[in-house]
Amino acid sequence: MSDPVTGRRPAGVLVAVSILDADQAALGDEIRRAEAAGADRIHLDVMDGHFVPNITFGWKTIEAIRRATTLPFDAHLMISEPGRWTTAFLDAGCDSITFHVEVDAPQIHPALVRIREAGRSAGLSVKPGTPLAALDAYRDLLDIVLVMTVEPGFGGQAFMWDVAETKLAAARAWLDPAGASEVQVDGGGRAETAEVIGRGGTDVIVAGSALYRAADMAVEVERIRAIAGAARTAAAGARRTAG
Ligand code: DX5
Ligand code: ZN
Repeated sequence: MSDPVTGRRPAGVLVAVSILDADQAALGDEIRRAEAAGADRIHLDVMDGHFVPNITFGWKTIEAIRRATTLPFDAHLMISEPGRWTTAFLDAGCDSITFHVEVDAPQIHPALVRIREAGRSAGLSVKPGTPLAALDAYRDLLDIVLVMTVEPGFGGQAFMWDVAETKLAAARAWLDPAGASEVQVDGGGRAETAEVIGRGGTDVIVAGSALYRAADMAVEVERIRAIAGAARTAAAGARRTAG
């Protein structure tokens, strides 16, 4: 989501907190805890037990937790029928809706158009094994590309370094280098992986277990943001020098 004033991508790397690993019995408090720790966004993992082998929460829960914060809500729909539920997630208060390019294709274009018509940001996500080329037909409709660095379905999984090394810079270059669209990375985001994520030109890092299991969430948020931001700036400088 570009800056509403400048229309350009935010200067620093943003941290979106996934609530998948939060105490599900106290989601409102857990979201306020993330906000107090300096989170820039709340990442909402919606799973239907069909597209992925897990079930989480739906639009009704999102509608309820919408009252807990004014932070932007990034919905990550890991469901087989995003086209059928787009309006429900828009009405629940999601600021952006990202779903997977691996779903049945006929529903993709209308769903992206529907999200943008509602004045929200539209995104597509690619699983680790899916090439970026799968997004080609939708480039002009995308505000967000969400690169998975784990197989979608669970928090706390091991980070896929090879995916980060090969796909992030390519996604940045593919999207629109100077434009408003953003690259997000999801799965295994933490201080130890922030450097490679930042180096790839990433705009938003999603982090879940690393934050809700941290001794001090605010310290961890700041570490991730600082490491990724420095790596992104250094990589951008190196690209400029290389010309
Ligand atoms: C996995 C989800 C991720 C996950 C991130 O399918 O899309 O958002 O919750 O959690 P960590 O940071 O623990 O990998
Ligand atoms: Zn996610």
